[in-house]
Amino acid sequence: MEELKTIQWFPGHMTKTKRRIEAQLRLIDAVAVLLDARVPYSSCNPDLRSIINNKPRLVILNKCDMADAAQTKKWIALFREKGIAAIALDCKSGKGMNTFVPAVKNVLSDKLKAWQAKGMTGRTIKVMVVGIPNVGKSSFINRLAGQSRAKVEDRPGVTRGNQWFTVSKGFDLLDTPGVLWPKFDDKAVGEKLAYIGSVKDDVLDTEHLAGRLLEYLRDYFPEMISSRYKLTAEEIAQVQGYELLSLIGRKRGMLISGGEINTERAAATVLDEFRSGVLGKITLDKAEDHHDIKI
Ligand code: G4P
Repeated sequence: MEELKTIQWFPGHMTKTKRRIEAQLRLIDAVAVLLDARVPYSSCNPDLRSIINNKPRLVILNKCDMADAAQTKKWIALFREKGIAAIALDCKSGKGMNTFVPAVKNVLSDKLKAWQAKGMTGRTIKVMVVGIPNVGKSSFINRLAGQSRAKVEDRPGVTRGNQWFTVSKGFDLLDTPGVLWPKFDDKAVGEKLAYIGSVKDDVLDTEHLAGRLLEYLRDYFPEMISSRYKLTAEEIAQVQGYELLSLIGRKRGMLISGGEINTERAAATVLDEFRSGVLGKITLDKAEDHHDIKI
């Protein structure tokens, strides 16, 4: 997917963002790493580990309302196997939000005991949120803050004064999240980020993208495609993405003058139906394929 390269972050921007996060790390006790539950591997910045170093971390699988629940469980188990605490959340409805503070306290239990032993009982836990654009950082912070106070631009180098707000007694969150850059040099990762809408469609060839998505869904979830678009298993087997798109366009009566199929409209429909969850709860990164994930 050549066209994805055009929206890569510049190395200079990455360096600035990295420095900003590193500076904030000195102020905090733990990092909340937001990942998209549909693509936990692809939404994980591979440089994160070197940026946050040994800082205690909690992985948050956000948008779990749109992911396959069985896969989300497997991902949580995989992170736990690696000694990394993980929880699943849905910032849209707020489901699971109450597990966040206890999970962070659990991650920091040794530190908290040490504070207590030293008589530092009044000390506040300070946490910052990091994640790639569109993963739900602002939604998460706003939910915890209980009002619309966080909207950070996805541009690196945009600085604001740090502000803290209290989530619960003795627990503060930095209101400005660390915006990590997504990684596009792995083609499969770039495509998955585009499928979920993390890459703006105006820089992409949506027919190509929707065709690739349909091929992927046909291979892994054929019944989803056949039942949604009323196509038989034979019709969708072994055809290329563009043909799948044409079949869907024809079935839906998406025609332009001359009877030609409006594949552009079909592409927009497929992408929209996938992203809004109409096609079903789908996890594109399977836990069993990513035992090597590092956070
Ligand atoms: P960011 O700060 O990391 O860039 O992400 P942001 O919170 O702006 O969220 C990006 C989009 O993801 C928003 O949708 C937001 O509503 C949605 N979102 C965040 N968390 C969840 C979740 O747990 N489940 C679901 N289904 N969606 C979630 P949007 O369409 O860009 O904005 P809006 O229509 O909600 O205003």
